Amino acid sequence: MTFRKKILRQKNDMNDLEKYFRENTGNRIQKWMHYFDIYDRYFSRYRGTDVNVIELGVAHGGSLQMWKHYFGPKAKIYGVDINPHCKQLEEDRIKIFIGNQADRQFLKSITDAIPRIDILIDDGGHKMTQQINTFEVLFPHIDKNGIYLCEDAHTSYRRKCGGGYKKKGSFIEYGKNFIDYINAWHTRQPKKLNISDFTRSVYALHYYCGVIVIEKRPMETPYDLKTGVERVPYFDPSPRISIFKKLFGKKRR
Ligand SMILES: C[S@@+](CC[C@H](N)C(=O)[O-])C[C@H]1O[C@@H](n2cnc3c(N)ncnc32)[C@H](O)[C@@H]1O
Repeated sequence: MTFRKKILRQKNDMNDLEKYFRENTGNRIQKWMHYFDIYDRYFSRYRGTDVNVIELGVAHGGSLQMWKHYFGPKAKIYGVDINPHCKQLEEDRIKIFIGNQADRQFLKSITDAIPRIDILIDDGGHKMTQQINTFEVLFPHIDKNGIYLCEDAHTSYRRKCGGGYKKKGSFIEYGKNFIDYINAWHTRQPKKLNISDFTRSVYALHYYCGVIVIEKRPMETPYDLKTGVERVPYFDPSPRISIFKKLFGKKRR
C-alpha cells in the first residue's frame, strides 16, 4: 500500500471527532489520541439531539467548539473553568461558568443553572479533590440515561496531582468502590455493602487507560431464568457433609 493510500485509509477510519480535531486550526484543543474512539462510542447516540453537555476544563475553548460541532444545532454546551479569561470564549450555545471545581457550593450553583445534564466530561484540574468533589456533587444531577466521563484519570498515579499507586484518596482508588456498588444487589453483608442510589442508577462502568466512563440507566433487581431441558444428572463437585452424618456416620431420618 502506498503512503498516500495508507494516510487516506487512516483518515477514512477516523471518526468525525478525530477528523475535526486533526483538521482544527481554530481555538486550541488538547486531547490524548485514544480518547476519540471512547468519546464516539458513548456520545454518538446523542448527535442531532437537544443534548446538554458540560465540560470541566475550558482552556482555549477549542474542545467546547468541537462538541458543539459534533452534537449539532440542537446541542447546548457548558464549560467550567477557574480561569476568569475563559468567560470571553462564550458564544451561541456555549455558556461558561467561572469557578473552582473543588468548591462544592460553586458546583451546586451550576446545577441550578443547567436544567438537565446528559453528558459530563471532567477535563479540569485533574487533582484528586477536584475529581472527587465534582463527581459527588454533579453525578446525582446527570440524567437517568446520561454519561459521566472523567478523563486523565491517570493523574491518580502522579504524586504531584495527589495520586500514587494504590494511594488512598486517589480518584482511581475511590472509583474502585463503584465496582462493589453496582454488584450490591447480591450482597449478603448489608452492613458493609448496601443497595444505594448508585446501584439503582448505574448500568455499566468502563475503565480505559486514563478514562472512566459511567453509564447511567435505571436498574432493577437482577434476576435469572432457566429455559430448555436438563441433559445430564446433577453433579456436586464439593458436597457438604451434614454435621449429623459427621457425628453419627449416617443420614438423619
Ligand atoms: C487540560 S485543560 C482543558 C483542556 C480542554 N478541555 C481541551 O480539551 O482543550 C485544563 C483546564 O482546567 C482548568 N482548571 C484547573 N484547575 C481547575 C479548577 N480547580 N477548577 C476549574 N477549572 C480548573 C485550567 O484553567 C485549564 O483551562
